Amino acid sequence: MNIVILGCGGFIGSHLLDRLLTTTDHKIIGWDPESSKIRKHLDNPNFTLHQRYVDDPETQQDLRNAVAEGDVVINLAAICNPSEYNTNPISVIKSNLFDVYPIVELCVEYKRWLISFSTSECYGRTLSSYVGDTSYENPDLYELKEDETPLIMGPIVNQRWTYACAKQMVERLVYAHHKEDGLPFTVVRPLNFFGPRMDYIPQRDGDGVPRVLACFMGALLNGDPMKLVDGGKARRTIVSIYEAVDAICRMLDNPEKANGHAFNIGNRNNEVTMAELADMMRKTYAKITGDASYEDYPIIEVSAEEFYGEGYEDCDRRMPDVSKAKDLLGWEPKIALEDVLLDTMTYFHNEYAGTMKPAQVAE
Ligand code: UGA
Repeated sequence: MNIVILGCGGFIGSHLLDRLLTTTDHKIIGWDPESSKIRKHLDNPNFTLHQRYVDDPETQQDLRNAVAEGDVVINLAAICNPSEYNTNPISVIKSNLFDVYPIVELCVEYKRWLISFSTSECYGRTLSSYVGDTSYENPDLYELKEDETPLIMGPIVNQRWTYACAKQMVERLVYAHHKEDGLPFTVVRPLNFFGPRMDYIPQRDGDGVPRVLACFMGALLNGDPMKLVDGGKARRTIVSIYEAVDAICRMLDNPEKANGHAFNIGNRNNEVTMAELADMMRKTYAKITGDASYEDYPIIEVSAEEFYGEGYEDCDRRMPDVSKAKDLLGWEPKIALEDVLLDTMTYFHNEYAGTMKPAQVAE
């Protein structure tokens, strides 16, 4: 296969390249301005990297040629960091909607299969949260089903939803072209993939606020307290990046089954509140370092406004129905959260511990 991957240098892209370039003969043409996570593949004869942004004018002709010669286009390019949704909303809308529009149109023009990475945030908050069912008695009000669950976002003053709304619009655009023009498509809704190389560690190789794994990991490495936003009540299900990549490979191996569908990719068995995640991570870090004092590492509570600024609103719970991925692709995630954390945190520890002297841990 000739595979075009946009955003191939990020967390998911780097793991996808690891798998495809070591286990298949597929030819891959990728776009990404960043290459630090994929350096080891740069000399691979089956891989060509265009180190540019997708909206770079110089990209246009090369991209057109690649799509024309490609069998499938995988779009991973996105700003997918919640700290940007309410603080940088125009860029979030532009990169996740308007920059994607020409890519969708190219795929329509050449009738190429588009695997469009979307988000579990398309579901917004659960119906349970709106009716005040905080004990989640009724699964019909919180389970996320690709083809049944309504997609409900908060008001525009809560700019958290700029990203989800842009992604939802792309899903609708892709689906409309599928119905009207026969565009082959697959939509992937990731539910918190965790693994090595996710995001960046603050104060080490980036500034600002990454996603929760890197925030908690950065706190442990830098000697800062772990921060629970609004008490850490929000729940997430966490799936290993290796199993998530496995799902993508199953799609590539079964185009006829993947075509025309949106898929939740997540692990129902690995659900935690963010407070539970922080506790598991400090205990895991005690195991990795052999230093039992990490078991009581400081955890503090902060308000969402303090942490993310005005206009943040949280997704309360994301419990995916993954029966479609199981039935159509034979995909069933099995790696327990304990193992995901041990593997991921060992990577970060080996990569970063000792690269900077941790400050005194705040009491
Ligand atoms: C983000 C993206 O918006 C989704 O599109 C993507 O699918 C998802 O990550 C993912 O990784 O798959 P979200 O899960 O809300 O969604 O992002 P995180 O930044 O990882 O936040 C998870 C939870 O942790 C939120 O409740 C947040 O408030 C909390 N949090 C975050 C903390 O309590 N402390 C922190 O230091 C950081």
